[in-house]
Amino acid sequence: MRRTPSALALAALTLAATTASMLTTSIANAADPIVIKFSHVVAENTPKGLMANKFKALIAERMGDKVLVEVYPNSQLFGDDNVLEAMQLGDVQLAAPALSKFSRYTDLIALYDLPFLFEDLDAVDRFQQSEQGQAMLDAMKKKGLIGLGYLHNGMKQLSSSQPLRVPEDARGLKFRIMASPVLEAQFKALDAAPLKKPFSEVFTLLQTRAIDGQENTWSNIYSKKFHEVQPYITETNHGLLDYMVVSSNEFWNGLPDDVRADVKAALDESLAYGNQIARDKADEDRQAIIDSKRSEVIELTPEQRAQWVQIMKPVWKQFEKEIGAELIEAAYATNQQ
Ligand code: LMR
Repeated sequence: MRRTPSALALAALTLAATTASMLTTSIANAADPIVIKFSHVVAENTPKGLMANKFKALIAERMGDKVLVEVYPNSQLFGDDNVLEAMQLGDVQLAAPALSKFSRYTDLIALYDLPFLFEDLDAVDRFQQSEQGQAMLDAMKKKGLIGLGYLHNGMKQLSSSQPLRVPEDARGLKFRIMASPVLEAQFKALDAAPLKKPFSEVFTLLQTRAIDGQENTWSNIYSKKFHEVQPYITETNHGLLDYMVVSSNEFWNGLPDDVRADVKAALDESLAYGNQIARDKADEDRQAIIDSKRSEVIELTPEQRAQWVQIMKPVWKQFEKEIGAELIEAAYATNQQ
């Protein structure tokens, strides 16, 4: 094709403009911060919600030019049922699911669901900080997930449409559970009907009486207003609801070394903060529920509690092979240390 001088000049100009724009784009990309999307399912005024916001604030303050944390609470971005798949696909970089929600990825973490295993959060801390507890953070590495730390919520209570004082009171009732085979076995031991449902559906299921009850911490019950649709909460402290903060191997190991170290330091600091909040909130939210007068908090006598232990504890045996008797023993021993 024959070009006139002016057409040539125009082509050269267009080429120059395109090159300049490509350069600008690549410079902008290089300067763009690394985005960490942190997805969770609870309200912001909870140990996990506050921990996530603290992490966001620390990163903004210390590394705002390099890293941007976006927090998505209340199942806004992903729910329990799809967040880990989304993480493997690179659609979310951080999450802190309850330990009960990893059963599709490892048998080991089911340890934490065994009823009446830990007496209190001090025992949980001792176990999590032990060599065995720390090794469990790597239990899902082969599945592409890396554990970065533990976070407490607290001990679980049983809420219900009927007063639960002894195990027979739960017989035949429908309870929502997290997706965990141990929790399923625990409610089956009571002759109750466990239903695995995402956290985001629990309030409506309770409100419409599609289910009779659920197990959760004081903080989750209060922040999601379960106590407004459940007239009774039995203070059983029968199990633990804790979290593991996870990322994908690909994202985490792909971070520049210095960035990874600084992000980890901010995360550790936020976890310490969240763990302290968990301890304070359990008492505060329990009291707020009592003060609301929407739900009666039932305290068990030692004899009544012993009956729940007697019915639920045999569940340990069912999972001894998958989890390992030694690990169960080591965890239980932390109550005496
Ligand atoms: C639940 O599903 O009940 C909890 O795991 C929610 C949470 O993240 O605390």
